[in-house]
Amino acid sequence: MSLVEERARAVAHRYNFTEIRIPLLERIQLFVRSTGETSDIVEKQMYAFADRDEGETMVALRPEGTPGVVRAYVEAGLDRSDPEQRLFYSGAMFRRERPQKGRYRQFFQFGVEVLGRADPACDAELLMMSAELCGDLGLKVRFEINSIGDPSCRPAFRAALIEWGRAHWDQLCDDCHSRLERNPLRLLDCKIDAKLAESAPNSLDYLCDPCRVHFDTVKELASAGGVELVVNPRLVRGLDYYTRTAFEVMGDGLGAQSTVVAGGRYDGLVETMGGGAVAGIGFAIGVDRMALALQAASLVPTTAPDAAIIALGPAAMRQAIVVARRLRAANLSVEMLSPERKLKALLGRASKIGARFAVIIGEDELARGVVQLRDLKQSAQREVALAEAAGAIAAASSS
Ligand code: HAM
Repeated sequence: MSLVEERARAVAHRYNFTEIRIPLLERIQLFVRSTGETSDIVEKQMYAFADRDEGETMVALRPEGTPGVVRAYVEAGLDRSDPEQRLFYSGAMFRRERPQKGRYRQFFQFGVEVLGRADPACDAELLMMSAELCGDLGLKVRFEINSIGDPSCRPAFRAALIEWGRAHWDQLCDDCHSRLERNPLRLLDCKIDAKLAESAPNSLDYLCDPCRVHFDTVKELASAGGVELVVNPRLVRGLDYYTRTAFEVMGDGLGAQSTVVAGGRYDGLVETMGGGAVAGIGFAIGVDRMALALQAASLVPTTAPDAAIIALGPAAMRQAIVVARRLRAANLSVEMLSPERKLKALLGRASKIGARFAVIIGEDELARGVVQLRDLKQSAQREVALAEAAGAIAAASSS
């Protein structure tokens, strides 16, 4: 998990993003207004409860980060004073979902949001950014993209979906029956009958000219930026604020929960939250899922110390502490082993933790100011002066 976060921070730095810390707890209204009343998140997945204040204000643990970022942005007046912002956040999110591999009730996201940029170059850059992160981690992924239009063209698409849904009423599942009027785009998301959804109208056929030009330019620029995209006209996102670009990145070895990154454009959200007409776009990385994908691909680097220190006897322990301190000062990773075991067991332990060297100090070494340096990789042992131990280990570790 920390490897994913570390790399994500490095990528965010390369793209000139600044960190924002957003609250874990927000008024429930924030998510109702932004994530959307008809989204699964708001309908069934929020951990919400009444505060003990006078008005018993309903609050919720954040199920996602975008609303908190936009709220902070509007509250700080940035929509008017300095609308172009590139922000990232990292932390726990909470959704009451049925837990399974890759889907948890508390999970971690690393998210980025760009405010004040409506141009397609920005969409392309965010796609490049996600691709770069996956590339840095060594993950093989697949990018899927779609455009779900904007308020000028979406009503026609919505109407077409409702009409299609009514014509196929008998074949729709119970969930889709309730989605039909409330949130017809989600008909395309039906996990129960994905085959049926294939015959539904698709958003690309309904795009207005500006949305089509935007979408085509995003694809062209992302491709120039080295991102291979697969257009999936059935890709709709489960959150209500999206406009135009929607995308998901899928990893291998994750079973049903294969989406490791997801995001899109949300041009009307700042206004919905009481701010100006400022565009927005972002994505969030599912940190837990990304870590699982790394594990599945055996890409998790094992941590092993440069040296394990073995002191034979209480007097040697004091010297061992001094040696450990010196080695760590030379930026080497060192684990002191328990002095309460025999040499053979301690060497076994040193191999088990993957130490490159065992540094052995007994009564004799103590008296002569030396240590035994055993190279556990090459099964060779030599004696070095105390002062030379750090240099010898550092030289071998970097070779
Ligand atoms: P989301 O698709 O709800 O989007 O979540 C983004 C990612 O978080 C998912 O693709 C997945 O990797 C991870 N994730 C979601 N739920 C869980 C869970 N229960 N357990 C483990 N991982 C999970 C958003 O949250 C938007 N705020 C993304 C965004 C930012 N759009 C624009 N800006």
